[in-house]
Amino acid sequence: MNIHRITAPEIRARKGKTPIVCLTCYHAHTAQLLDKHVDVMLVGDTLGMVIHGMETTLGVTLDMMIMHGKAVMRGSKHAMVVIDMPFGSYEESPEIAFRNASRVMQETGCCAVKLEGGTRMAETTRYLTLRGVPVIGHVGMTPQMVQVLGGFKTQGREQSEWDDICKDAKAVTEAGAFAVVLEAMAEPLAAKITRDIEIPTIGIGASTDCDGQILVTEDMLGLNPAPPRFVREYAHLGPEIESAVETFAADVRKRRFPSKENVYNMKKLA
Ligand code: KIV
Repeated sequence: MNIHRITAPEIRARKGKTPIVCLTCYHAHTAQLLDKHVDVMLVGDTLGMVIHGMETTLGVTLDMMIMHGKAVMRGSKHAMVVIDMPFGSYEESPEIAFRNASRVMQETGCCAVKLEGGTRMAETTRYLTLRGVPVIGHVGMTPQMVQVLGGFKTQGREQSEWDDICKDAKAVTEAGAFAVVLEAMAEPLAAKITRDIEIPTIGIGASTDCDGQILVTEDMLGLNPAPPRFVREYAHLGPEIESAVETFAADVRKRRFPSKENVYNMKKLA
């Protein structure tokens, strides 16, 4: 079957043009629903928190990313599927990063990987891209550094922090990343980085000036009881699920379910 998925060069070419629509996705049925509407589906390591109830993303393993990556690939045909490299799978050396990233690509068939870190990950980003692994960078608030940062903290609120964050975005650009996520940073800084670098920026809690936007799908659907401030809820599925479950429970207790339409009858004898 000939499936055309959006490619890394196509995303790269969107710099300064039509904004790139991205959402996270961890699950085949959700992938089917998102596929027509988004350019990029990110199998983010946020799946550790959203699907598995972890407090941070640090406990997510490569096997978990591969399992969810396969599900998202099976559920989609059109969007570019990008898989996050989890904590501990790429930081040690470019060689180890390549071994793990190539495994992710071979076992899932995904189109690219995402790595957290700017200047510190530039050498690895170059090593991967030169060997056939398209990379999205991720700078600003990098959740895998939560224990070093002392929490999920917005970056660049003080002008004194700007220089390092700008250098991070430039370093991944020069290393060959085809796009970069700017997470939880002061709006004017995200706008400046978007003007200053040649690759598309994808904002999350950043700026409308970014070349694209990403949200965690469950956050924008209203499934997170405590979403971050930058999230807009486009639906309120949490209360809808609760009310559906309440109705089902009442039906079961009162023997109103299954009804005639939901049961199998005996075959009629000839
Ligand atoms: O893991 C993730 O879902 C992400 C996005 C929030 C950008 O990295």
